[in-house]
Amino acid sequence: MTASLKDRSVLVVGRGGGIARAVVEAARDAGALVTAAGRDQEALKAAYDGQPAIGTEQVDLTDEASIAALAERLGTVDHVVSTASARARGKLADLDRDALRLSFDTKVIGPLMLAKHLAPRMSPGGSITLFSGVAAAKIAVGTLGVAITNGSVEVLARSLALELGPLRVNAVSPGVIDTGAWDAFGEQGKADYFADLTSRNPVRRIGTIDDIAAAVLFAMTSTFLTGTTLHVDGGEPLI
Ligand SMILES: NC(=O)c1ccc[n+]([C@@H]2O[C@H](COP(=O)([O-])OP(=O)(O)OC[C@H]3O[C@@H](n4cnc5c(N)ncnc54)[C@H](OP(=O)(O)O)[C@@H]3O)[C@@H](O)[C@H]2O)c1
Repeated sequence: MTASLKDRSVLVVGRGGGIARAVVEAARDAGALVTAAGRDQEALKAAYDGQPAIGTEQVDLTDEASIAALAERLGTVDHVVSTASARARGKLADLDRDALRLSFDTKVIGPLMLAKHLAPRMSPGGSITLFSGVAAAKIAVGTLGVAITNGSVEVLARSLALELGPLRVNAVSPGVIDTGAWDAFGEQGKADYFADLTSRNPVRRIGTIDDIAAAVLFAMTSTFLTGTTLHVDGGEPLI
């Protein structure tokens, strides 16, 4: 069975662009009343200026008091999506404790705290969608910190699904999506990386933000889907 998002309230935590923005707009286009929440509410207001049915809020997922305050202000909510991340990239020798802590705090403990404070305010037909990523499914040297963070997200989704049922909890695991997340490779480095991956992965392309938004909407509206991870990665773990 599929539930409608018409007039449902949807909270999307993240930035005003990339995957978060595609999810915000797709949920709104499906009839939801959407709140985009992030560390910089002014930046979110500017990003969504003039867009109907999209409000903004402030939250820092590394701060439980900030999450509790957001929950108070929201009152009730039907669906929650957390896209926030702080990647700890690099080989073992380059990984420092602070970067790893921030990665877990942002992507695992923060969403856990979101669930703690928001689940009691959510309708039984609601859902939580967390964000993992392909690094957990395709182990590679240089993405250890990202992989263990994402792996924990997937276990968190299963754990919350059991404890919070009938509320549903899932994770979406994107492959490589050109959101600006790869800009640290430099223009040429990014182009070379994308060209190499495109030549080898089964679908012969890089993913789009709309590929991922479609999966999030599926997770929100599929009423028999819980405790699982949707891998939307072009088959990258197979190569
Ligand atoms: N893009 C890809 O190729 C890819 C691949 C695999 C997985 N993913 C996952 O998909 C999700 C979205 O990816 P993306 O590339 O669109 O965005 P992204 O570049 O990963 O952006 C994540 C955003 O999270 C926000 N954030 C960081 N710390 C936060 C905190 N403490 N509280 C609240 N918000 C915080 C930041 O927004 P502000 O700077 O505005 O605060 C940041 O820009 C992420 O979880 C990412 O790991 C993406």
